[in-house]
Amino acid sequence: MEYRHLGRSGIRVSELSLGSWVTFHKQVDVDHAVEMMSVARDAGVNFFDNAEVYAKGKSEEVMGAALKKLSWRRGSYLVSSKFYWGMHEGINEKDTLNRKYLMEAIDGSLQRFGLDHLDLIFCHRPDPYTPIEETVWAMHNIIESGKAIYWGTSEWSAQEIVAAIEIAERHHLHKPMMEQPQYNMFHRQVFEVEYARLFRDYGYGTTTWSPLASGLLTGKYNEGIPDGSRGSLKGYEWLRENLTDPELINKVKQLSTVAGDLGASTAQLAIAWLLKNPNVSTVITGASRVEQVKENMKALDVVPKLTDDVMETIEKILE
Ligand SMILES: NC(=O)c1ccc[n+]([C@@H]2O[C@H](COP(=O)([O-])OP(=O)(O)OC[C@H]3O[C@@H](n4cnc5c(N)ncnc54)[C@H](OP(=O)(O)O)[C@@H]3O)[C@@H](O)[C@H]2O)c1
Repeated sequence: MEYRHLGRSGIRVSELSLGSWVTFHKQVDVDHAVEMMSVARDAGVNFFDNAEVYAKGKSEEVMGAALKKLSWRRGSYLVSSKFYWGMHEGINEKDTLNRKYLMEAIDGSLQRFGLDHLDLIFCHRPDPYTPIEETVWAMHNIIESGKAIYWGTSEWSAQEIVAAIEIAERHHLHKPMMEQPQYNMFHRQVFEVEYARLFRDYGYGTTTWSPLASGLLTGKYNEGIPDGSRGSLKGYEWLRENLTDPELINKVKQLSTVAGDLGASTAQLAIAWLLKNPNVSTVITGASRVEQVKENMKALDVVPKLTDDVMETIEKILE
């Protein structure tokens, strides 16, 4: 495992990390979380991603309980949460990045985790109705309070991110250090084009999500939606159109041939391909079973096999 600087910060994240969206609480209980996080850690993972909204706080509780059982030294790992959607229906408590919500959200998250600080916290979406300056000050104050160490954005536009950085610089506040964007073989435009200036001019870090496009890039949806897969879960019907898109499935089948030639699984190829991009600080992997964690961590062995020729072949398939 290699460790990459999270943007221009001093902190280094393992190039592969593990997240809990959909899985923790719904598919993964505390004992399974312990097992999955141990396997990831043994492979070198030092970052575990979470969010307030995942399973309405239960995902943080499962990860917190797992961390307690694992009793790793606090300095040896990084853990995150993300705020925006909120836990309550109150007018000031959902779909917002207002100061009051953020100051209370961090406390709720720490309580559910059973920790006294988080390492990375993200504004989970932009809030067009709260001045960016108010959000930047609130995140700065949370960092100053010691309840979190670094803050960043998730799915913000490049323009919003630059505005936040410039406000922070103007007032000598803690700047946002990293973005958490979707990035995978089928979702490239924002990361590769819109954010190019963020990487070049600001050295912005990234913790990228859905490396397998929710499992599509494993090949498991090639013949329809298998029982027990994410695509079969109640509440995730909205993913099905993409997971069964014939054009994408056709590309997955071609990618599987490339992977097979390299002695890799399609999932490993898709994850390794992301690691070739130096603007990726860490790829947050997801898994509903421990075997998937084991398979996905071995993507590290595939990276050196992605020669210029292989990358070109992949590019032609993705076009
Ligand atoms: N900031 C944001 O807005 C945002 C949004 C989404 C995710 N995230 C973060 O990014 C993390 C990863 O996203 P993701 O879960 O969507 O990642 P993903 O890699 O695209 O999908 C993971 C899912 O694919 C299936 N899978 C994974 N490895 C597999 C394998 N080797 N073979 C077969 N199936 C496999 C599993 O689902 P099944 O077994 O159930 O089919 C697994 O839960 C999340 O946990 C979260 O921390 C952030």
